[in-house]
Formats: sequence, C-alpha cells, structure tokens
Amino acid sequence: MTKTETEESDVKAKDAGHVKIFDTTLRDGEQAPGFSMSTDAKIIVARALEALNVDIIEAGFAAASPGDAAAISTIAREIEGPTIGSLARLNKNDIEAAARAIEPARKKRIHTFIGTSPLHRDAKLKMTKDEILKQISEVVAFARSACDDVEFSPEDAIRTERDYLIEAVEAAIEAGARTINIPDTVGYTTPEEITDLFRFLNEKAKGAEKVTFSAHCHDDLGMAVANSLAAVRGGARQIECAVNGIGERAGNCSLEEVVMALATRRDFFNADTQVDTTKIYAASTALARVTHNPIPRNKAIVGRNAFAHEAGIHQHGVLADKRTYEIMDAEKVGVPSNALVLGKHSGKHAVAARVKALGFNVSKEKIEDIFPNFKKLADTAKEVTDADLVRLVTGNAAVDGRAGPWRMRKTELHVDFEDDTRPHARVTMEHDNGERRTVTHEGEGPIDAAFAAVCAIADVPGRIHTLDLHHLAAEGVVRAEAIVDVDGKQFSGKAQEVDIADAAVAAFVAAINQAAAIRSGAFSFPNEAAAS
Ligand code: KIV
Ligand code: ZN
Repeated sequence: MTKTETEESDVKAKDAGHVKIFDTTLRDGEQAPGFSMSTDAKIIVARALEALNVDIIEAGFAAASPGDAAAISTIAREIEGPTIGSLARLNKNDIEAAARAIEPARKKRIHTFIGTSPLHRDAKLKMTKDEILKQISEVVAFARSACDDVEFSPEDAIRTERDYLIEAVEAAIEAGARTINIPDTVGYTTPEEITDLFRFLNEKAKGAEKVTFSAHCHDDLGMAVANSLAAVRGGARQIECAVNGIGERAGNCSLEEVVMALATRRDFFNADTQVDTTKIYAASTALARVTHNPIPRNKAIVGRNAFAHEAGIHQHGVLADKRTYEIMDAEKVGVPSNALVLGKHSGKHAVAARVKALGFNVSKEKIEDIFPNFKKLADTAKEVTDADLVRLVTGNAAVDGRAGPWRMRKTELHVDFEDDTRPHARVTMEHDNGERRTVTHEGEGPIDAAFAAVCAIADVPGRIHTLDLHHLAAEGVVRAEAIVDVDGKQFSGKAQEVDIADAAVAAFVAAINQAAAIRSGAFSFPNEAAAS
C-alpha cells in the first residue's frame, strides 16, 4: 500500500520528536459550564488558533446539536491552515454527522470514542468486552470510508485494564485509525504511570509504528500538563489541550503551558511543536473575552503576574538582566511588555525605570526626593499605578488627585431592553481650562459606551485592556482598576465608588487622564538631567 501524504507526515513526526498540537478548546473546552460559545465567538477563537498554527482544531461535536454541526461547518469553510475535526460517538449516525459537518474543510479528521474501562462498560454502556471490540472494528472502518484521517479514543483509558486496552487499541489500528488517543478522562493518572503506559503501548501494540499516539489529560488533580509532558517522554506525539486549560470539570491540559514547557525545556524533552508562540497571549485574551472568563492573575504564561515583578531584589535583578528571574521572554508569548509592578517591595531602580518609561526625564535627586512619598503610598495601596507615579513626579501639577486635565461631571447610562436601540451613554466632562464637553456614544454595553464617550471627549484613542472590579462588602464600596491601551502603551487608573458603574468609569477616566497629560507633553522636566 502506498503511504498517503498524512501517513508520511505522521511517521516523520514520530522520528523527529515533533509533537502535534490538537486543540480542543471548541469541543471539550466549550462543553464545560460557563464556556459555551456562539458561532461568532467560535470563529474568533478558531482564527486565533489558526494564527497559533496548531495542527488540529477539534471544532465541536456535530451530533450534539444542529447548532454545533453548523458551527463546525462554518469553521471548516473559513479556517485554512489546521486540520478541522469533529468528535463522534462510536456509531454510524454520529460518524455521518461528523463527516457532513467537516466536509468543507481542506484537511479533515473524525475523532471517535467509546468507553473501555470496567465502569464505562458495565455501568454506562452495559456492553461486554467483546461487543465493544466488535463495534470498534466495524465503526472505525466505517469512519475510514468517510474520512481518510480517523482518530480513536478508548474513553477512560487510564482506568482500563492494560490487557483489554491493548486489544481495543489494536482493533482500532487494524480497522484503520491513524491516531490513537489515550484519554485520562477523569484526571486520575500520574506522570510516572502515564510515561510507562505510553511506552507499553508503543512497544507492545501490534501496528504501533503506523499510528500517532496522543495524550488527552484532564486536570482534576492539577497534573494535566505534567501528565501530558510525561506522555511525550513515553512516546506520545500528539497532545490534546485547550487554551487557558478550559475543559470538563477542572479542565484540560493548558495549551500555553504545555507548548511553552516544550519550547523552554527543549533540552529535556527533545521535542517541539509548530505553534507560533508569539500568538499565545492574543489567543488567550480572545478566549477570555468571548467567554467572559477572565484569566486568573497568577495563571502561568498568560496571567498578568506571569512577567510582573514587585519585590525590590527581583526588580533590581530584572533591570540588570531579565534572565535573573525570567525563564521566558514575555515577547515570546506575545505579552505586550514585561511589567515591573510597583509596590511596597520596589526599590529606587524600578521607580526610576518606570518614571523614565512614562516619558519623564528626571534626575537621580528627583527620584530620591519622591521616594519617601512613594513608599508611604505603597504602604497603604496594594500597588502604585502609573497614575500615582505621575502624581508623585509632577507634584502640584495634579489637581484633586488627578494626574491629567479632565474632570468627570456627569455620566448617564442607558439600556432599554424593550426596544432595539443599542446601549448608550451620555458623559459630560470639564477641562482645566474651563471647557465643558458632552458626548453621547453607543457601545456593546452601557459601560463600554461610557468608555467610548470619555475617549471622544478627551480625544484619546483608548481601548480597555483589563477591568478589575472588587466589591468590598464591609466598606460598602466598589474598587475598580482599569488598564487602558493608548498608542501602544498601557495606562492604569484606580477608583473607589459606591456604585459599580461609577467606579468602572472613574477608573477608566483616571487612566485616560494620564494618557492625555502625557500626550499633551504637559508633564516633562526638560531642564533636569536624566535619571540613571
Ligand atoms: O476526556 C475524554 O475522555 C474525552 C474523550 C471524548 C476524548 O474528552
Ligand atoms: Zn476530555
């Protein structure tokens, strides 16, 4: 039999230590409570995955609903690079639904599965071992007649008896499956155990040399990434993962973590992926945005703290040579800039560097001058923002605690659920020179509309990047922090108000005010020598 192009590439991938990235954000990820996505949202994520250059996108589960099937077809039509796959239970109807949904794709895969562990056989399927083996042989062969590229998963493989697992795997290979995925459906395994299992399958399963073994690990015990990497050590050459680690229950192996582990520790794993890591941050934020699930601040690789340093000793080290406290470049994962978070642990080096980055040309003496006030402020606030720093440096230039020329006068937010008008906001602000401006703007929601109105008034092209809101029940206030992108730089503003919307808008205004002040060149110290 002559090998197809994909078979050749499977064999090459095995030899070269190349690990395929099979992304299941849109299937296993989307299946998890709180992560369901509209077709439009799925397309946004699929485009981000295409930019990442993942090998396979599992776009959904066609037989689950007509909406899911339609979304898979749209993705199959619009996405060019990666193979597009659909999940299917091990029956002919599901296989046909999957084949129809992926039909428009340039490269297609059907991923079919059946439970093989005693619990799945006896409690869920009520099928004997032989009945399951027979179904694997028949339906995998049927899937191969519909699609050249078929993946088979013995669900709950980790809790399946080894001698039966190998029989199931061999039946699928014999029937034409080209990828054998070994799911740790309930996140139960350990690194040592899974390395051993993959070695066992690679060595003992008849036909192993013809297929790619794949790992699909869940994170119930927080080991999904470690287990996936351990599977690679045992010979897996495909990892199933999801952006931000989303998926059933505690989630799947996180794409960004596993990809960066392979890239950063190539010396150890001796394997690589074809993922364009500089697109990781964009994919992660796109998913967070469309699913309304913010990325935890301390999340590895993509969290706000991943490349942020507050401790003085760390900041001093990072300023001298980033490698002292960073094992990856922020730019490698597409994070806009590495942040030195200024707080009570920060030293003068970090304060001087941040002041300089904000566009001020100040002397060492000026830094000495403001440093005691910086420490005082840092003792009371959790974090000293750029706005705070501008205030400290500019001294009297700040009016009413504002580091900028605009003062909020009135905000009216409108949402009418009865008619078709879009949410809008009417905002009035006053400039230091006495001018008042009122702007009415539409938006995705009333707060988004208010942000747009503030930008129009201040004539600053701001885009909200992050908005953190904390309700402090004991004090009866809402604390807001807005990080706003302006001209490729980030400005942060903080505010505290009784009302949640007022707090969000006030924090946004604080950030925009800073940007307005710096854009106008109002704050600079041309006569002073540069701080070192
Ligand atoms: O976790 C699991 O077992 C799955 C299979 C369908 C691959 O998601
Ligand atoms: Zn799963």
